[in-house]
Amino acid sequence: MNDTLDISREIEREVERRRTFAIISHPDAGKTTLTEKLLLYGGAIHQAGSIKSRRAARHAVSDWMEMEKDRGISITSSVLQFPYDDCAVNLLDTPGHADFSEDTYRTLGAADSAVMLLDCANGVELQTEKLYRVCSMRNLPIFTFINKMDRYGKEPLDLMEEIEEELGIDTYPMNWPVGMGKDFQGVYDRRSEEVLLFEEDTTHGQEIVDFERVSIDNSEIERIIGRRRYEELLEEVELLEIAGDSLEPDRVIAGEQTPVFFGSAINNFGVQPFLEGFLEMAPSPVEGQTYPVDPKREDFSGFVFKIQANMDPNHRDRVAFVRLLSGKYERDMHANLQREERELKLAYPKQFMAQEREMAEEAYAGDIVGLHDPGYFKIGDVISTGEPVEVPGVPRFSPEHFAVVEIEDALRRKKLKKGLDQLAEEGAIQVFRQPRKGHKETVVGAVGVLQFEVLKQRLKNEYDVEVNLRTLDFDYARWVEGNFDPDDFRRHNYTKVLVDQDDLPIILFRNDWALDRCQNQYSTLNFLPNPPGTPGLEQLHGESWDF
Ligand code: G4P
Repeated sequence: MNDTLDISREIEREVERRRTFAIISHPDAGKTTLTEKLLLYGGAIHQAGSIKSRRAARHAVSDWMEMEKDRGISITSSVLQFPYDDCAVNLLDTPGHADFSEDTYRTLGAADSAVMLLDCANGVELQTEKLYRVCSMRNLPIFTFINKMDRYGKEPLDLMEEIEEELGIDTYPMNWPVGMGKDFQGVYDRRSEEVLLFEEDTTHGQEIVDFERVSIDNSEIERIIGRRRYEELLEEVELLEIAGDSLEPDRVIAGEQTPVFFGSAINNFGVQPFLEGFLEMAPSPVEGQTYPVDPKREDFSGFVFKIQANMDPNHRDRVAFVRLLSGKYERDMHANLQREERELKLAYPKQFMAQEREMAEEAYAGDIVGLHDPGYFKIGDVISTGEPVEVPGVPRFSPEHFAVVEIEDALRRKKLKKGLDQLAEEGAIQVFRQPRKGHKETVVGAVGVLQFEVLKQRLKNEYDVEVNLRTLDFDYARWVEGNFDPDDFRRHNYTKVLVDQDDLPIILFRNDWALDRCQNQYSTLNFLPNPPGTPGLEQLHGESWDF
């Protein structure tokens, strides 16, 4: 009885400490820099990396993988955990490249809040907006960091207006910049009513620096920042107090108001106040917010949101990334794979062990564990002990780019098939085949064209297969529900009949016209943008989503 009470107290305490978030930004806004600084302040590293190593990391599939190699720190390239004060912080990596992918979508789906990072000169950019929309569909709490205040940028009030108008979320500035660019002198912290004074960092941002704080009531402040700036600041602060909204924690949690912080990540300036304010306001896992499961439930449950093959070329393992939903994970524990009603041992991937990384022995709701996956898991799987839990499946994006896979060396066909099958299971690509025996043509489908480049590279690096991808001139893929005769569609040159990985029939349509025409002509059939029974994301399409 006491044991049960103890474990439930332990779980409750641990869940409340968890903060699981992702950073959303446009390339170059400073995500790598900010991540590194958060690590520095979280004590996960003692010196932030040199500018050179960051540049090298820029175009890597995962910036973190490179950072991990450079710094020898323990991150799984998908999640980074560090303690701060009493919190256990989980920062999820979203791919840094400009193309939006399902992988990014799935990763955002595992976060309880998001940090929106903007470059003060560029404001809200395209990629930020796309990622923001994915977050706002789930009413995810958003915390904004406006970076690069040491450079000239847009006026702070204009930036607030831009966020409100372009994204439709209210803003609440937590601090307010004093000047910018060469004249950047710091930020005024509205809660403590102090000015945090900026000094160019002489360690090049490598080490933690303490910045001086001076109360706005201290007569010294006028001398330090200059009379003109001081008067401007008083005016602006008054304006914010009178004309601006007040901070409403409930609306922050509902994703309706975003607390905004200004700073300069490269100089470490404003990073700590941001981290502290963020951790104070960001939610811990709550039932119904990210997943419909009580995180304080004693029985363990977890959700597979990402699978990655060949993370380490020396060990051809797959890793299944599991976001914990409830209970307590203990290394090598057993749990039920709900889809197959089969009990599995939840082991860590070998390569993590081989590199003698420090692996957490325990994890709680909000944490992510990377499990060794000999082929057990599919994205969207739920594993649990005790009563099964229900979690909606992962929505899929309908592919909009198609290509035939051509291979020169026919002897490598088997390897190619293995590679394509594995990458399809990861959700990196969708694979379609000719339904008739003897037809070997394989077609791949993707949401963004960059996925094709990644596919080619990964097939070469990880499976030693060189392919050519011949682009097909089709715009849509539709799964067909109902009794249909494939020959009806083979007659047209504006449709192409294939089957997906699960042998479900699918038709490619050359354009809008072709799709409309077939929908009218075959009104007894349903043409679905996703496999039957899989939730889709059509609501995102048609809203000028330029993948
Ligand atoms: P990303 O991951 O979002 O793509 O951005 P990253 O951190 O790589 O930063 C992009 C560029 O912006 C880098 O400069 C970086 O040094 C710079 N940067 C980041 N934060 C700040 C800041 O607070 N102030 C200023 N002035 N610059 C900042 P780069 O010249 O493109 O590359 P590098 O040579 O510095 O690596």
